[in-house]
Amino acid sequence: MTAPKSRVFSGVQPTGNLHLGNYLGAITKFVALQESHECLYCVVDLHAITVWQDPKELEHNIREVTAAFIASGIDPEAHIVFNQSRVSGHAELAWVLSCVARMGWLNRMTQFKEKAGKHRENASVGLFTYPNLMAADILLYRATHVPVGEDQKQHLELSRDIAQKFNTDFADSIAEHGFDETFFPLPEPLITGPATRVMSLRDGTSKMSKSDPSDMTRINMMDDADSIAKKFRKARTDPEPLPSEEAGLKDRPEAENLVGIYAALAGVTKAETLKEFGGGQFSGFKEALTGVAVEKLAPISNETKKLMDDPAHIDAILSDGAARARAIAEPILRQTRQVIGLLTD
Ligand code: AMP
Ligand code: TRP
Repeated sequence: MTAPKSRVFSGVQPTGNLHLGNYLGAITKFVALQESHECLYCVVDLHAITVWQDPKELEHNIREVTAAFIASGIDPEAHIVFNQSRVSGHAELAWVLSCVARMGWLNRMTQFKEKAGKHRENASVGLFTYPNLMAADILLYRATHVPVGEDQKQHLELSRDIAQKFNTDFADSIAEHGFDETFFPLPEPLITGPATRVMSLRDGTSKMSKSDPSDMTRINMMDDADSIAKKFRKARTDPEPLPSEEAGLKDRPEAENLVGIYAALAGVTKAETLKEFGGGQFSGFKEALTGVAVEKLAPISNETKKLMDDPAHIDAILSDGAARARAIAEPILRQTRQVIGLLTD
């Protein structure tokens, strides 16, 4: 079989307000992995529509995530950047995998419970089967490594379970066709560094999120220097000075979050951050934090804006990426149909 030893796949939803959690938890990892791996980075528009999206805003957001990827340092020529709906194999494999995954597995997904809230009966069917589509995204390319934030860990475990069940359910047919017994490799989550779960600036116990109604809870990748300074200044903290060692962050979620953000932005560890700022007040630390955040984000937001001035260029990148993604996906889909016993061309 022709699968390379390692291939990276990850996705970001085009649902607006890309924030520091997306940047530190996912996009910075995407950039780093380009050195060592073949990478596919996908704007997952089919995931976005599990919740109603304004069509005009969706178009804008698909381009903006693409622009932010490129502005952050993803190279769409050396690697593949595309939007999910352009490669119909995602939807096709998702159907097949929905017949492999079990209701009980999906019922355990905590993110569905959080997103659907009290109105579960009113959530779209797509929102419920969303993790199954995510498994299809990954397996469609036989991706081996998936960089994500901590919140996606359970979805990655489900992807592994689905891959494993497919390999087992069809083991005989896979062997008869002469395919590798690991027909779908079990994807490994890459959840690393000091900011895998960036928390709200207003509540250290809830995740920084695109959909929080208060913009003061998050640093958006497109925020200007003044907004970044204001949001950090107003970020919730506690009255104690910063500790000098990591153990001192226990039960201080807001302090821990800001220290993690600083460490990730400055490329140091939390311990090193506390060595430098321990014993000091939050006000001085917040100024330093604003400094590193603006230094990292300002060039990216400027470049994103510049790229957004030429939508045709972005569309051409997505179209080219989709063609290259399709070329990888098609033989894998064909083998999948054969293994299941679906007559195929
Ligand atoms: P989403 O915006 O839900 O499509 O997420 C895109 C990527 O960003 C995924 O890998 C998420 O795990 C990651 N991510 C989202 N929010 C956060 C957060 N608050 N902290 C760290 N990573 C995050
Ligand atoms: N569900 C992910 C999120 O909301 C996005 C996503 C979709 C994804 N498909 C993926 C991430 C495949 C990694 C691999 O963050």
